[in-house]
Amino acid sequence: MPNKNKRFADEMDDSDESKKHLKSCVRVWCDGCYDMVHFGHANQLRQAKAMGDYLIVGVHTDAEITKHKGPPVFNEEERYKMVRAIKWVDEVVEGAPYITTIETLDKYGCDFCVHGDDITLDASGQDTYRYVKEAKRYKECSRTAGVSTTDLVGRMLLLTKQHHSCGEREYEVDKVQSGSISKDPSTHSPWTGISQFLPTTHKIIQFAEGKEPKPGDEIVYVAGAFDLFHIGHLNFLEKAKAEGDYLIVGLHTDPVVNHYKGCNYPIMNLHERVLSVLSCKYVNEVVIGAPYSVTADLMDHFRVGLVCHGKTPIMPDVDGSDPYTEPKSRGKFKSLHSGSDLTTQKVVERIINHRLDFEARNKKKEKKELAAYEALMKQKEVRIS
Ligand code: CTP
Ligand code: C5P
Repeated sequence: MPNKNKRFADEMDDSDESKKHLKSCVRVWCDGCYDMVHFGHANQLRQAKAMGDYLIVGVHTDAEITKHKGPPVFNEEERYKMVRAIKWVDEVVEGAPYITTIETLDKYGCDFCVHGDDITLDASGQDTYRYVKEAKRYKECSRTAGVSTTDLVGRMLLLTKQHHSCGEREYEVDKVQSGSISKDPSTHSPWTGISQFLPTTHKIIQFAEGKEPKPGDEIVYVAGAFDLFHIGHLNFLEKAKAEGDYLIVGLHTDPVVNHYKGCNYPIMNLHERVLSVLSCKYVNEVVIGAPYSVTADLMDHFRVGLVCHGKTPIMPDVDGSDPYTEPKSRGKFKSLHSGSDLTTQKVVERIINHRLDFEARNKKKEKKELAAYEALMKQKEVRIS
Protein backbone atom coordinates (compact mmCIF):
# COMPACT_ATOMS: atom_id res chain seq x y z
CA MET A 1 0.00 0.00 0.00
CA PRO A 2 1.24 3.51 -0.70
CA ASN A 3 2.51 5.63 2.10
CA LYS A 4 0.06 8.43 1.57
CA ASN A 5 0.81 9.72 5.07
CA LYS A 6 4.39 10.48 4.02
CA ARG A 7 3.45 12.74 1.13
CA PHE A 8 0.75 14.59 2.98
CA ALA A 9 2.42 14.84 6.38
CA ASP A 10 3.60 18.38 5.58
CA GLU A 11 0.09 19.54 4.76
CA MET A 12 -1.39 18.24 8.02
CA ASP A 13 -1.70 19.73 11.43
CA ASP A 14 -1.24 17.45 14.43
CA SER A 15 -4.86 17.20 15.44
CA ASP A 16 -6.30 13.70 15.87
CA GLU A 17 -9.20 14.68 13.68
CA SER A 18 -7.14 15.33 10.54
CA LYS A 19 -5.00 12.19 11.12
CA LYS A 20 -8.14 10.07 11.46
CA HIS A 21 -9.57 11.64 8.31
CA LEU A 22 -6.42 10.96 6.26
CA LYS A 23 -6.26 7.32 7.35
CA SER A 24 -9.85 6.71 6.37
CA CYS A 25 -9.63 8.62 3.08
CA VAL A 26 -9.41 6.29 0.08
CA ARG A 27 -7.62 8.02 -2.78
CA VAL A 28 -8.40 6.71 -6.26
CA TRP A 29 -6.30 7.14 -9.42
CA CYS A 30 -7.58 7.11 -13.01
CA ASP A 31 -5.65 8.02 -16.11
CA GLY A 32 -6.25 8.28 -19.83
CA CYS A 33 -6.30 10.43 -22.95
CA TYR A 34 -9.80 11.82 -22.27
CA ASP A 35 -9.92 13.08 -25.83
CA MET A 36 -13.27 14.52 -27.00
CA VAL A 37 -14.34 13.85 -23.46
CA HIS A 38 -17.79 12.24 -23.49
CA PHE A 39 -20.28 10.76 -21.00
CA GLY A 40 -18.51 7.36 -21.26
CA HIS A 41 -15.45 8.98 -19.67
CA ALA A 42 -17.65 10.80 -17.15
CA ASN A 43 -19.37 7.52 -16.24
CA GLN A 44 -15.99 5.87 -15.67
CA LEU A 45 -14.98 8.72 -13.34
CA ARG A 46 -18.33 8.53 -11.54
CA GLN A 47 -17.83 4.82 -10.85
CA ALA A 48 -14.21 5.36 -9.80
CA LYS A 49 -15.17 8.12 -7.36
CA ALA A 50 -17.77 5.78 -5.82
CA MET A 51 -14.94 3.32 -5.02
CA GLY A 52 -13.21 5.82 -2.74
CA ASP A 53 -13.32 9.33 -1.31
CA TYR A 54 -10.95 11.43 -3.40
CA LEU A 55 -10.46 11.09 -7.17
CA ILE A 56 -7.26 12.08 -8.97
CA VAL A 57 -7.21 11.90 -12.76
CA GLY A 58 -3.95 11.80 -14.73
CA VAL A 59 -4.30 13.12 -18.28
CA HIS A 60 -1.65 12.32 -20.91
CA THR A 61 0.15 14.94 -23.03
CA ASP A 62 -0.42 15.30 -26.77
CA ALA A 63 3.08 13.92 -27.43
CA GLU A 64 2.46 10.75 -25.38
CA ILE A 65 -0.92 10.09 -27.06
CA THR A 66 0.53 10.66 -30.53
CA LYS A 67 3.32 8.19 -29.77
CA HIS A 68 1.11 5.39 -28.45
CA LYS A 69 -2.25 5.85 -30.17
CA GLY A 70 -2.24 8.60 -32.82
CA PRO A 71 -2.97 12.35 -32.73
CA PRO A 72 -5.67 13.56 -30.29
CA VAL A 73 -8.54 15.77 -31.52
CA PHE A 74 -8.27 18.18 -28.57
CA ASN A 75 -5.00 19.59 -27.31
CA GLU A 76 -3.72 18.95 -23.79
CA GLU A 77 -4.77 22.31 -22.34
CA GLU A 78 -8.34 21.71 -23.57
CA ARG A 79 -8.37 18.12 -22.27
CA TYR A 80 -7.04 19.12 -18.81
CA LYS A 81 -9.75 21.76 -18.47
CA MET A 82 -12.53 19.46 -19.68
CA VAL A 83 -11.62 16.71 -17.19
CA ARG A 84 -11.28 19.22 -14.33
CA ALA A 85 -14.90 20.30 -14.98
CA ILE A 86 -16.36 16.80 -14.55
CA LYS A 87 -18.24 16.83 -11.28
CA TRP A 88 -16.70 13.70 -9.75
CA VAL A 89 -13.09 14.83 -10.29
CA ASP A 90 -11.23 16.27 -7.29
CA GLU A 91 -7.82 16.84 -8.89
CA VAL A 92 -6.16 16.60 -12.32
CA VAL A 93 -2.52 15.62 -12.83
CA GLU A 94 -1.33 17.14 -16.10
CA GLY A 95 1.03 15.13 -18.29
CA ALA A 96 0.57 11.78 -16.51
CA PRO A 97 2.72 8.96 -17.97
CA TYR A 98 1.02 6.63 -20.47
CA ILE A 99 2.06 3.53 -18.59
CA THR A 100 0.70 3.47 -15.04
CA THR A 101 3.31 2.56 -12.45
CA ILE A 102 3.35 1.96 -8.70
CA GLU A 103 5.61 5.02 -8.40
CA THR A 104 2.86 7.19 -9.89
CA LEU A 105 0.23 5.82 -7.50
CA ASP A 106 2.57 6.36 -4.53
CA LYS A 107 3.57 9.85 -5.64
CA TYR A 108 -0.05 10.95 -5.46
CA GLY A 109 -0.90 8.88 -2.39
CA CYS A 110 -3.42 6.74 -4.28
CA ASP A 111 -4.48 3.33 -3.01
CA PHE A 112 -5.38 1.89 -6.41
CA CYS A 113 -6.09 2.68 -10.02
CA VAL A 114 -9.46 2.26 -11.77
CA HIS A 115 -9.95 1.63 -15.48
CA GLY A 116 -12.87 0.50 -17.67
CA ASP A 117 -13.15 -3.20 -18.53
CA ASP A 118 -11.53 -2.73 -21.93
CA ILE A 119 -7.83 -2.98 -22.62
CA THR A 120 -5.36 -0.15 -23.20
CA LEU A 121 -2.18 -1.01 -25.07
CA ASP A 122 1.03 0.96 -25.42
CA ALA A 123 2.93 1.47 -28.68
CA SER A 124 4.52 -1.98 -28.30
CA GLY A 125 1.11 -3.69 -27.84
CA GLN A 126 1.57 -4.32 -24.09
CA ASP A 127 -1.09 -3.65 -21.44
CA THR A 128 -0.45 -0.18 -19.97
CA TYR A 129 -1.79 -1.34 -16.59
CA ARG A 130 0.47 -4.41 -16.26
CA TYR A 131 2.42 -3.09 -13.26
CA VAL A 132 -0.58 -2.03 -11.19
CA LYS A 133 -2.38 -5.28 -12.09
CA GLU A 134 0.62 -7.32 -10.88
CA ALA A 135 0.72 -5.35 -7.64
CA LYS A 136 -3.05 -5.92 -7.18
CA ARG A 137 -3.62 -2.19 -7.10
CA TYR A 138 -5.98 -2.20 -10.06
CA LYS A 139 -9.78 -2.20 -10.07
CA GLU A 140 -12.16 -2.33 -12.96
CA CYS A 141 -15.40 -0.49 -13.65
CA SER A 142 -17.84 -1.14 -16.50
CA ARG A 143 -17.05 0.57 -19.75
CA THR A 144 -20.07 2.47 -21.09
CA ALA A 145 -21.13 0.59 -24.20
CA GLY A 146 -21.99 2.48 -27.36
CA VAL A 147 -19.85 5.57 -26.95
CA SER A 148 -16.20 6.16 -27.69
CA THR A 149 -14.08 8.83 -29.30
CA THR A 150 -13.54 6.37 -32.14
CA ASP A 151 -17.31 5.97 -32.65
CA LEU A 152 -17.94 9.74 -32.56
CA VAL A 153 -15.21 10.33 -35.15
CA GLY A 154 -16.87 7.61 -37.26
CA ARG A 155 -20.27 9.38 -37.07
CA MET A 156 -18.67 12.59 -38.34
CA LEU A 157 -16.78 10.94 -41.19
CA LEU A 158 -19.64 8.72 -42.36
CA LEU A 159 -22.19 11.59 -42.19
CA THR A 160 -24.80 9.20 -40.73
CA LYS A 161 -27.90 10.16 -38.78
CA GLN A 162 -28.39 6.68 -37.34
CA HIS A 163 -27.53 7.98 -33.86
CA HIS A 164 -30.49 10.43 -33.73
CA SER A 165 -33.08 9.51 -31.10
CA CYS A 166 -35.81 8.66 -33.60
CA GLY A 167 -36.83 8.68 -37.19
CA GLU A 168 -33.67 8.10 -39.16
CA ARG A 169 -32.75 4.51 -38.33
CA GLU A 170 -34.60 2.62 -41.11
CA TYR A 171 -33.27 5.02 -43.71
CA GLU A 172 -29.67 4.61 -42.58
CA VAL A 173 -29.98 0.81 -42.52
CA ASP A 174 -31.11 1.03 -46.17
CA LYS A 175 -28.09 3.16 -47.02
CA VAL A 176 -25.70 0.71 -45.37
CA GLN A 177 -27.37 -2.22 -47.16
CA SER A 178 -27.27 -0.49 -50.52
CA GLY A 179 -23.54 0.05 -50.03
CA SER A 180 -23.56 3.88 -49.94
CA ILE A 181 -22.20 3.66 -46.38
CA SER A 182 -19.60 1.04 -45.59
CA LYS A 183 -19.67 -0.61 -42.19
CA ASP A 184 -17.57 -3.67 -41.74
CA PRO A 185 -18.21 -5.11 -38.27
CA SER A 186 -15.21 -7.41 -38.62
CA THR A 187 -12.91 -4.42 -38.29
CA HIS A 188 -14.30 -3.27 -34.94
CA SER A 189 -12.42 -3.71 -31.71
CA PRO A 190 -13.99 -6.29 -29.38
CA TRP A 191 -13.93 -3.70 -26.59
CA THR A 192 -14.70 -0.41 -28.27
CA GLY A 193 -16.51 -1.35 -31.50
CA ILE A 194 -19.75 0.43 -32.37
CA SER A 195 -22.79 -0.73 -30.47
CA GLN A 196 -25.75 1.42 -29.59
CA PHE A 197 -25.85 3.30 -26.30
CA LEU A 198 -29.05 2.42 -24.44
CA PRO A 199 -30.16 5.34 -22.28
CA THR A 200 -32.01 4.51 -19.07
CA THR A 201 -33.64 6.58 -16.36
CA HIS A 202 -31.22 4.93 -13.92
CA LYS A 203 -28.26 6.45 -15.77
CA ILE A 204 -29.89 9.89 -15.66
CA ILE A 205 -30.46 9.51 -11.92
CA GLN A 206 -26.79 8.55 -11.43
CA PHE A 207 -25.65 11.66 -13.33
CA ALA A 208 -28.21 14.14 -12.02
CA GLU A 209 -27.70 16.25 -8.94
CA GLY A 210 -31.36 15.89 -7.95
CA LYS A 211 -31.39 19.08 -5.88
CA GLU A 212 -34.03 21.77 -6.13
CA PRO A 213 -32.92 25.40 -6.00
CA LYS A 214 -33.03 26.94 -2.52
CA PRO A 215 -35.55 29.72 -1.85
CA GLY A 216 -33.97 32.99 -2.90
CA ASP A 217 -31.48 31.39 -5.32
CA GLU A 218 -30.87 33.37 -8.51
CA ILE A 219 -31.81 30.96 -11.30
CA VAL A 220 -29.99 31.22 -14.62
CA TYR A 221 -31.31 29.55 -17.78
CA VAL A 222 -29.42 28.83 -21.00
CA ALA A 223 -30.49 26.76 -24.00
CA GLY A 224 -28.84 25.20 -27.01
CA ALA A 225 -27.66 22.03 -28.72
CA PHE A 226 -24.50 21.49 -26.64
CA ASP A 227 -23.48 18.92 -29.22
CA LEU A 228 -20.02 17.30 -28.83
CA PHE A 229 -19.65 19.15 -25.54
CA HIS A 230 -16.46 21.20 -25.89
CA ILE A 231 -14.34 23.88 -24.23
CA GLY A 232 -16.49 26.71 -25.72
CA HIS A 233 -19.58 25.24 -24.03
CA LEU A 234 -17.67 24.69 -20.82
CA ASN A 235 -16.36 28.29 -20.64
CA PHE A 236 -19.85 29.56 -21.42
CA LEU A 237 -21.47 27.46 -18.67
CA GLU A 238 -18.80 28.56 -16.17
CA LYS A 239 -19.65 32.22 -16.95
CA ALA A 240 -23.41 31.56 -16.87
CA LYS A 241 -23.15 29.86 -13.46
CA ALA A 242 -21.22 32.85 -12.12
CA GLU A 243 -24.28 35.02 -12.92
CA GLY A 244 -26.39 33.24 -10.31
CA ASP A 245 -26.70 30.29 -7.90
CA TYR A 246 -28.53 27.60 -9.86
CA LEU A 247 -27.97 26.86 -13.55
CA ILE A 248 -30.58 25.18 -15.76
CA VAL A 249 -29.59 24.06 -19.27
CA GLY A 250 -32.36 23.54 -21.84
CA LEU A 251 -31.42 21.04 -24.55
CA HIS A 252 -33.12 21.21 -27.94
CA THR A 253 -34.42 17.96 -29.46
CA ASP A 254 -32.60 16.25 -32.35
CA PRO A 255 -35.12 17.38 -35.05
CA VAL A 256 -34.93 20.98 -33.79
CA VAL A 257 -31.12 20.96 -33.85
CA ASN A 258 -31.15 19.28 -37.25
CA HIS A 259 -33.54 21.98 -38.50
CA TYR A 260 -31.19 24.84 -37.62
CA LYS A 261 -27.80 23.11 -38.06
CA GLY A 262 -28.60 20.85 -41.05
CA CYS A 263 -26.46 17.97 -42.41
CA ASN A 264 -26.27 15.11 -39.85
CA TYR A 265 -26.26 17.39 -36.78
CA PRO A 266 -26.52 16.79 -33.91
CA ILE A 267 -23.62 14.30 -33.84
CA MET A 268 -24.70 13.22 -30.35
CA ASN A 269 -28.38 12.50 -29.80
CA LEU A 270 -30.51 14.12 -27.11
CA HIS A 271 -29.97 11.31 -24.56
CA GLU A 272 -26.22 11.50 -25.02
CA ARG A 273 -26.16 15.30 -24.83
CA VAL A 274 -28.18 15.19 -21.59
CA LEU A 275 -25.51 13.04 -19.92
CA SER A 276 -22.62 15.16 -21.27
CA VAL A 277 -24.15 18.34 -19.88
CA LEU A 278 -25.19 16.74 -16.57
CA SER A 279 -21.61 15.64 -15.93
CA CYS A 280 -20.45 19.29 -15.94
CA LYS A 281 -19.93 20.62 -12.42
CA TYR A 282 -21.52 24.02 -13.18
CA VAL A 283 -24.88 22.51 -14.21
CA ASN A 284 -27.65 21.92 -11.67
CA GLU A 285 -30.52 20.83 -13.89
CA VAL A 286 -31.29 19.97 -17.52
CA VAL A 287 -34.54 20.37 -19.48
CA ILE A 288 -34.70 17.37 -21.82
CA GLY A 289 -36.13 18.76 -25.05
CA ALA A 290 -36.53 22.47 -24.30
CA PRO A 291 -38.72 24.71 -26.49
CA TYR A 292 -36.62 26.61 -29.04
CA SER A 293 -38.04 29.98 -27.98
CA VAL A 294 -37.74 30.78 -24.28
CA THR A 295 -41.38 31.14 -23.31
CA ALA A 296 -43.09 33.05 -20.48
CA ASP A 297 -44.34 29.68 -19.18
CA LEU A 298 -40.84 28.26 -18.95
CA MET A 299 -39.48 31.35 -17.20
CA ASP A 300 -42.30 31.43 -14.65
CA HIS A 301 -42.28 27.68 -14.05
CA PHE A 302 -38.55 27.59 -13.24
CA ARG A 303 -38.50 31.08 -11.61
CA VAL A 304 -35.80 32.11 -14.09
CA GLY A 305 -34.08 35.36 -13.12
CA LEU A 306 -31.70 35.58 -16.06
CA VAL A 307 -31.40 34.02 -19.53
CA CYS A 308 -27.97 33.96 -21.20
CA HIS A 309 -26.59 33.23 -24.65
CA GLY A 310 -22.99 33.28 -25.85
CA LYS A 311 -21.57 35.27 -28.74
CA THR A 312 -22.52 32.69 -31.38
CA PRO A 313 -25.29 33.81 -33.78
CA ILE A 314 -28.89 33.47 -32.56
CA MET A 315 -30.89 31.59 -35.19
CA PRO A 316 -34.51 32.80 -35.56
CA ASP A 317 -37.40 30.49 -34.66
CA VAL A 318 -39.43 28.87 -37.51
CA ASP A 319 -41.72 31.94 -37.70
CA GLY A 320 -38.69 34.24 -38.03
CA SER A 321 -38.94 35.59 -34.45
CA ASP A 322 -36.08 36.04 -31.96
CA PRO A 323 -36.17 33.06 -29.52
CA TYR A 324 -35.16 35.43 -26.69
CA THR A 325 -38.01 37.95 -27.22
CA GLU A 326 -39.63 37.09 -23.84
CA PRO A 327 -36.56 37.40 -21.56
CA LYS A 328 -35.46 40.52 -23.47
CA SER A 329 -38.87 42.16 -22.94
CA ARG A 330 -38.54 41.42 -19.20
CA GLY A 331 -35.02 42.91 -19.10
CA LYS A 332 -33.69 39.46 -18.13
CA PHE A 333 -31.37 38.63 -20.99
CA LYS A 334 -27.58 38.82 -21.01
CA SER A 335 -25.07 38.04 -23.70
CA LEU A 336 -21.91 36.38 -22.35
CA HIS A 337 -18.46 36.10 -23.89
CA SER A 338 -17.09 32.59 -23.41
CA GLY A 339 -13.65 33.68 -24.65
CA SER A 340 -13.54 30.67 -26.97
CA ASP A 341 -14.39 30.63 -30.65
CA LEU A 342 -14.69 26.85 -30.82
CA THR A 343 -17.98 25.50 -32.18
CA THR A 344 -19.30 21.98 -32.82
CA GLN A 345 -18.79 22.65 -36.53
CA LYS A 346 -15.13 23.54 -35.96
CA VAL A 347 -14.62 20.30 -34.02
CA VAL A 348 -16.05 18.39 -36.99
CA GLU A 349 -13.85 20.41 -39.38
CA ARG A 350 -10.75 19.52 -37.32
CA ILE A 351 -11.64 15.87 -37.79
CA ILE A 352 -12.48 16.10 -41.48
CA ASN A 353 -9.19 17.95 -42.10
CA HIS A 354 -7.29 15.14 -40.38
CA ARG A 355 -9.48 12.41 -41.80
CA LEU A 356 -6.66 10.20 -42.97
CA ASP A 357 -4.79 10.49 -39.63
CA PHE A 358 -7.92 9.51 -37.68
CA GLU A 359 -8.82 6.64 -39.97
CA ALA A 360 -5.28 5.31 -39.65
CA ARG A 361 -5.42 5.83 -35.85
CA ASN A 362 -8.72 3.92 -35.56
CA LYS A 363 -7.50 1.04 -37.74
CA LYS A 364 -4.23 0.78 -35.76
CA LYS A 365 -6.13 0.77 -32.44
CA GLU A 366 -8.60 -1.90 -33.61
CA LYS A 367 -5.82 -4.10 -35.02
CA LYS A 368 -3.81 -3.94 -31.76
CA GLU A 369 -6.90 -4.67 -29.67
CA LEU A 370 -8.02 -7.60 -31.87
CA ALA A 371 -4.55 -9.15 -31.56
CA ALA A 372 -4.64 -8.73 -27.75
CA TYR A 373 -8.18 -10.13 -27.60
CA GLU A 374 -7.24 -13.21 -29.65
CA ALA A 375 -4.20 -13.81 -27.42
CA LEU A 376 -6.44 -13.54 -24.34
CA MET A 377 -8.96 -16.03 -25.79
CA LYS A 378 -6.12 -18.47 -26.59
CA GLN A 379 -4.82 -18.18 -23.01
CA LYS A 380 -8.33 -18.96 -21.72
CA GLU A 381 -8.64 -22.02 -24.03
CA VAL A 382 -5.27 -23.34 -22.79
CA ARG A 383 -6.37 -22.91 -19.18
CA ILE A 384 -9.69 -24.74 -19.78
CA SER A 385 -8.10 -27.70 -21.63
N1 CTP B 1 -14.10 4.62 -20.89
C1 CTP B 1 -15.30 4.05 -20.48
N2 CTP B 1 -16.36 4.00 -21.35
C2 CTP B 1 -16.24 4.49 -22.61
C3 CTP B 1 -15.03 5.08 -23.04
C4 CTP B 1 -13.98 5.14 -22.13
O1 CTP B 1 -15.43 3.59 -19.34
N3 CTP B 1 -17.27 4.38 -23.42
C5 CTP B 1 -12.97 4.66 -19.94
C6 CTP B 1 -11.81 3.78 -20.38
O2 CTP B 1 -12.04 2.42 -20.04
C7 CTP B 1 -10.70 4.37 -19.53
C8 CTP B 1 -11.06 5.86 -19.47
O3 CTP B 1 -12.42 5.95 -19.88
O4 CTP B 1 -10.70 3.84 -18.22
C9 CTP B 1 -10.16 6.73 -20.30
O5 CTP B 1 -10.16 6.25 -21.62
P1 CTP B 1 -9.21 6.86 -22.73
O6 CTP B 1 -7.80 6.68 -22.36
O7 CTP B 1 -9.60 8.27 -23.03
O8 CTP B 1 -9.47 5.97 -24.02
P2 CTP B 1 -10.84 5.52 -24.68
O9 CTP B 1 -11.92 6.49 -24.37
O10 CTP B 1 -11.04 4.09 -24.36
O11 CTP B 1 -10.54 5.68 -26.21
P3 CTP B 1 -11.60 5.71 -27.35
O12 CTP B 1 -12.75 6.56 -26.85
O13 CTP B 1 -10.88 6.31 -28.51
O14 CTP B 1 -12.05 4.32 -27.59
O1 C5P C 1 -24.16 26.10 -30.44
P1 C5P C 1 -24.80 25.59 -29.16
O2 C5P C 1 -26.29 25.60 -29.22
O3 C5P C 1 -24.25 24.27 -28.75
O4 C5P C 1 -24.37 26.63 -28.03
C1 C5P C 1 -24.88 26.59 -26.72
C2 C5P C 1 -24.51 27.89 -25.99
O5 C5P C 1 -23.07 27.95 -25.83
C3 C5P C 1 -24.91 29.14 -26.78
O6 C5P C 1 -25.36 30.14 -25.86
C4 C5P C 1 -23.60 29.57 -27.42
O7 C5P C 1 -23.54 30.95 -27.75
C5 C5P C 1 -22.60 29.21 -26.32
N1 C5P C 1 -21.23 29.09 -26.84
C6 C5P C 1 -20.26 30.01 -26.46
N2 C5P C 1 -18.97 29.92 -26.95
C7 C5P C 1 -18.65 28.94 -27.82
C8 C5P C 1 -19.62 27.98 -28.23
C9 C5P C 1 -20.92 28.09 -27.72
O8 C5P C 1 -20.53 30.90 -25.67
N3 C5P C 1 -17.40 28.88 -28.27
